[in-house]
Amino acid sequence: MYPKEVNIVEVGPRDGLQNEVEIVSVEDRVWLINQLAQSGLKKIEVGSFVSPKWVPQMADTDKVLRQIKRYKDITYITLVPNSKGFEQALISNVNEIAIFAAASETFSQKNINSSITESFERFIPVCEQAVRNKIPVRGYLSCVLGCPYEGYIAPEKVGELARKLLDLGCYEISLGDTIGVGTPFQAVTLIDIVGNHVPRECLAVHFHDTYGQALANIYAVLERGIKTIDSSIAGLGGCPYAKGASGNVATEDLVYMLNGLEIKTSVNLDLLIQIGQKISKILNRSNASKVGRASKILN
Ligand code: HMG
Ligand code: MG
Repeated sequence: MYPKEVNIVEVGPRDGLQNEVEIVSVEDRVWLINQLAQSGLKKIEVGSFVSPKWVPQMADTDKVLRQIKRYKDITYITLVPNSKGFEQALISNVNEIAIFAAASETFSQKNINSSITESFERFIPVCEQAVRNKIPVRGYLSCVLGCPYEGYIAPEKVGELARKLLDLGCYEISLGDTIGVGTPFQAVTLIDIVGNHVPRECLAVHFHDTYGQALANIYAVLERGIKTIDSSIAGLGGCPYAKGASGNVATEDLVYMLNGLEIKTSVNLDLLIQIGQKISKILNRSNASKVGRASKILN
């Protein structure tokens, strides 16, 4: 049984643009976010308050937030690695923050310059500040189905860390297959094991499509009751600290599949396709959405 409705978290303006070689202008970032809001997406990750020395593509997230049109029914989210990032998110009036931990020690070091344990210590004050300011916190766990440095990651470890994120105060844990290696059997096994540690309603999935498994994985976990799915316009995405990993599942492809399954989303697919085509043109790259490409050929 699939859920009747699915929540999509659009991560393109963050996960997508953080991985582009060229730094995208504030103007184009603002255009993209406003268009995504128009398409009916209700949760949009607009950027990160991380060190610009580490991820220069996400500098000026404060300017982006100042310039976008704000819709009351849309949740604008930013990534926050520490208290310094939280202060900036607060000033910029975000609706939600996302903290990000890893299930792999080496990836944690490469991505945020700390061990997993240290990163959780850093998140304590961030979550306390968030509670005081009534800002919901989403938690990411990266490398849940494999690590670019360590390879195999034990699902039990993912479950224990997901529990820790929940105990810190996250309302939802997004399980990230950062390098896109997982297959449906592994994805379902992961959900079953992590589901022994945290309620399934608190789980979201974040599949990168490096090995072409993302939609199959989503289909499989929908049957396990997962209702929140991260995706990225035009299949943009990647992590500067996970070389070779390709983009997230494309939002257009996800919505096309959900429409076919008669699962409700709030999204206008035609507009989404147009946005995907235009952002691909701006970035001078081929559109990684199969639906986006097919629609250009067919029309
Ligand atoms: P660090 O170098 O250990 O930090 O980096 P530090 O505390 O020693 O500070 C060093 C400098 O950074 C100082 O500046 C700080 O002020 C500054 P300086 O004195 O040298 O001029 N700094 C900051 N500046 C702006 N905003 C901040 C901030 N914090 C410190 N928040 C740090 C540690 C965590 C900051 C760094 O490693 C970092 O920014 N990492 C971010 C990496 C990142 O964004 N990765 C991509 C997102 S994760 C991902 O893509 C996976 C995901 O999509 C899920 C999946 O696919 O699995 C979420
Ligand atoms: Mg990602």
